[in-house]
Amino acid sequence: PRIAVFASGNGSNFQAIADAIQNGELHAELVLVVTDKPQAYVVERAQKMGIEPFAFNPAEYGSKAMYEEMLKGKLLNHGVEWIVLAGFMRLIGPMLLSAFENRIVNIHPSALPAFPGKDAIGQTLAAGAELAGVTVHFVDAGMDTGSIIAQETFPVAGRGRAEVEDQIHAIEHRLYPATLQQLFSR
Ligand code: GRF
Repeated sequence: PRIAVFASGNGSNFQAIADAIQNGELHAELVLVVTDKPQAYVVERAQKMGIEPFAFNPAEYGSKAMYEEMLKGKLLNHGVEWIVLAGFMRLIGPMLLSAFENRIVNIHPSALPAFPGKDAIGQTLAAGAELAGVTVHFVDAGMDTGSIIAQETFPVAGRGRAEVEDQIHAIEHRLYPATLQQLFSR
């Protein structure tokens, strides 16, 4: 399928997906990278991979419905079939949810339903949770509440933040492309 990746930051998950497509592990066409942060490093990554970055500033639109209508036009123009959220720090509204019903996925750095929302790794550590994890899920109107597609957990066992973060990212970069491949081939 033709996919768009939405990201607000570093874009390491974008990179993992683009790499998996390039080396044949993931069968998809990454036609567009969308960001709400024109300065985000993901823009540079997209350019390096020869994928069109599209940056917009939400503050220039009157409402979520207005910028999502603009995005919807852009996505349909590019024949996008799936939206893949990878560190996109905004809730998706009814405009895109209805245009891409059951075709929007997200990755979140906790064992959902535990610790939705921002800084899930910090939340996990602050709570003294036994398990850290990564979840890939369908996107609905809530914050990290959609149905779970894949999840991997590991024991925190007294490890520090940096170590937990590294392990989470390593899992993400393997789990996201693999899960997308399963999703697209079913
Ligand atoms: C990842 O940890 C992802 O789970 C979360 O945001 C982070 C994005 O990292 N939603 P990156 O921009 O892909 O490096």
